[in-house]
Amino acid sequence: MFHVHSPQSLHQPHATSTGAIIELEDLCFAYEQTPVLRHIDLSVAPGECVVLMGDNGSGKSTLLRVLCGLLFAQRGSYRLGGQEVSEATMRDTRFSKGLHQRVGFVFQDSDSQLFCASVADEIAFGPQQMGLSQQEVERRVSDVCQLLEIDHLRARAPYTLSGGEKKRVAIACVLSMNPDVYCFDEPLAGLDAKSRSWLLGLLKHLKTVGKTLVIATHDQSLADEVADFFAYMGEFHGYEDRPHVHINE
Ligand SMILES: Nc1ncnc2c1ncn2[C@@H]1O[C@H](COP(=O)(O)OP(=O)(O)OP(=O)(O)O)[C@@H](O)[C@H]1O
Ligand SMILES: [Mg+2]
Repeated sequence: MFHVHSPQSLHQPHATSTGAIIELEDLCFAYEQTPVLRHIDLSVAPGECVVLMGDNGSGKSTLLRVLCGLLFAQRGSYRLGGQEVSEATMRDTRFSKGLHQRVGFVFQDSDSQLFCASVADEIAFGPQQMGLSQQEVERRVSDVCQLLEIDHLRARAPYTLSGGEKKRVAIACVLSMNPDVYCFDEPLAGLDAKSRSWLLGLLKHLKTVGKTLVIATHDQSLADEVADFFAYMGEFHGYEDRPHVHINE
């Protein structure tokens, strides 16, 4: 079976001498002239789950995009497993492919993540980009389809799926890459009670097998269930009793 099931075959992420897998130091990011991320220091150890909380517009999704290498800081640094992630280092195709394999991103809006003709093609895309054999690609597609209970959707065009089905397919695409770090942007938004409880179970499972999770959410009950610590962004002043850091103040 695919390794996400099995703690024994867990791929160990490289930790640095500080023990962190994600290290942000004085990281600043602006869209055009508008600063959004201001002097962020954040350190996440392998296997930790950090939940980003903060007001609308406080920069949670922006920070996730930086972690996934879709946006680059104008100042400060981001290191993943001790390696600098920047516009310059990401010009190296091998490095950027490695980053996209090691850090998976489940967007809030699944439509911006799905672009292939069928669900099976969609899930196969990432593993194919990793250069895996066709046999391994097919094995991963089958395994995640079973795990996410979407076997019956394999031949469907992603744009014909319901919102909850799209979310499962988007998660399947990320799982099939077996990343070390999972970034989820509002993972429970738009899901019914059954899908919410299923996804909560999956998040806990990812924690159990040692994955590092970074989750942006407004959902306090989800946060309380999975967070090892909270990163409060901007003017957020709630829940001082939970383990937390303030960033982007
Ligand atoms: N592509 C963009 N160009 C210009 N400004 C942007 C862009 N994307 C986001 N912003 C702005 O950056 C700020 C932070 O946005 P971001 O989406 O990171 O916030 P968020 O914390 O995820 O909010 P929410 O809780 O509403 O999802 C907002 O003011 C937003 O308008
Ligand atoms: Mg957001």
